[in-house]
Amino acid sequence: MPGLFITGTDTGVGKTFVTILLAQALASEGIKVGVMKPISTGPASEDDARTLKKRLKLKDQLKLINPVHYKKPLAPLATEIESRKWRVESGKLREENRKLISKAYRQLEKKHDLVLVEGIGGVLVPIWENYFVADLIKELELPALIVARAGLGTINHTLLTIEALKRRKVPILGLALNGFSGKELSEKSNARIIEKISGLPVLFQLSQISG
Ligand SMILES: Nc1ncnc2c1ncn2[C@@H]1O[C@H](COP(=O)(O)OP(=O)(O)OP(=O)(O)O)[C@@H](O)[C@H]1O
Ligand SMILES: [Mg+2]
Repeated sequence: MPGLFITGTDTGVGKTFVTILLAQALASEGIKVGVMKPISTGPASEDDARTLKKRLKLKDQLKLINPVHYKKPLAPLATEIESRKWRVESGKLREENRKLISKAYRQLEKKHDLVLVEGIGGVLVPIWENYFVADLIKELELPALIVARAGLGTINHTLLTIEALKRRKVPILGLALNGFSGKELSEKSNARIIEKISGLPVLFQLSQISG
């Protein structure tokens, strides 16, 4: 497997957290891991690409790790719609950005044993017109790992995410449930129920670390 796309049931669900842990675990096994955040949004100070580069001491250039950046903390499609030029340029911009992303991914793929690609938000975040995060996963031909919350509400969000990926025939490696508090009743049964209904394995269960 040359790469893995780390997606989630929502924004803030722990994709970066899981990407860092996974990259560190793989690197400790001697695997040369590359990491990518193809599209980022929002201020540079809160940027995932910079966080990943710093925390994992990545040597790759930032423009390879993160080829496309939108300044506003919005879904990419929303930031393009806000731009006055959007109507005229969206088609051209979209093609340029799509090419930038796949070119950067192929370069990282050549340099590493495995590339972990972190998505933005969840699978139906609109990137461009009629093009969602799930379409990007499909275009990069990667299997997906879904990061989901541990507690109440996660069954619904996780099954919706799985449905959207299956519709596009994206292979799903499994799930990571993140943020166990040990205090919520649903945390005890969520993994089992999701596995039973979806037939997919819960590969990791991570506690909420305090401090
Ligand atoms: N298990 C955990 N224990 C403690 N803190 C966590 C845990 N998981 C995530 N966090 C923290 O919660 C916040 C959101 O997590 P993270 O940034 O990984 O989410 P994300 O899915 O990557 O968000 P985005 O959609 O913005 O990329 C971060 O500050 C992260 O450090
Ligand atoms: Mg993130």
